[in-house]
Amino acid sequence: MKILAPSILSADFLNLGSQIKLLEKGKADLIHCDVMDGQFVPNITFGPILVKKITAVTKLPLDVHLMINNPENFIEDFVDAGAKYISVHYEGNVHTDRLINKIKSDNVKAGIAINPATPVSCLTEIANIVDYVLLMSVNPGFGGQLFIEYTKNKIVELVELRKKLNKNFLIELDGGVTHRNIKELGDLGVDIFVVGSSIFNTPDIPKTISNFKHILKKEIANNE
Ligand code: DX5
Ligand code: ZN
Repeated sequence: MKILAPSILSADFLNLGSQIKLLEKGKADLIHCDVMDGQFVPNITFGPILVKKITAVTKLPLDVHLMINNPENFIEDFVDAGAKYISVHYEGNVHTDRLINKIKSDNVKAGIAINPATPVSCLTEIANIVDYVLLMSVNPGFGGQLFIEYTKNKIVELVELRKKLNKNFLIELDGGVTHRNIKELGDLGVDIFVVGSSIFNTPDIPKTISNFKHILKKEIANNE
């Protein structure tokens, strides 16, 4: 199954409640929340307080992408805030195994994220225990950037690793996904597509979401 996860990084924050209603109307699968601390990435967004406010107004599951240093200090807060998926960066912490197990023990899906220039080979061990791998296809920190083409090879490598390990972790792709490249990326093996600016910078958000989902459905049909 292909999953669409709109990223609220590009949403109108002053009208977040109504923007979330539009995601529901378009039948988004997840809401992707980009948490940035101004240290791990050169931008600052929001934390568990806002995540909790969002979970209070929607039934859509929240997919929290932590782009922060020392994520171990905040897992509990995001779990309490109602996150259903939490990913931490390979580059941002030393005790990845401990952290992934901690997230899983809280009954939250645990993901490991890697930056575009971090090789898939770093994941050989941790891929045995994660629920999903988040591949960054732009340098993290900002929405609206251009897709980095070489990251396509990493999708292929990750599909191979999944097969080799005989695991079923999901592959999430984050950054620069548009209606022009989503089909090709799905064909390569992506399961969860994060889409920010290509959803929120359009005049009819529910319609844009259903267009994306339509493309993904066609992609599935062609592969059957
Ligand atoms: C970037 C974030 C992304 C971002 C994607 O650091 O992790 O989730 O919102 O935005 P687009 O789809 O505009 O590249
Ligand atoms: Zn993200």
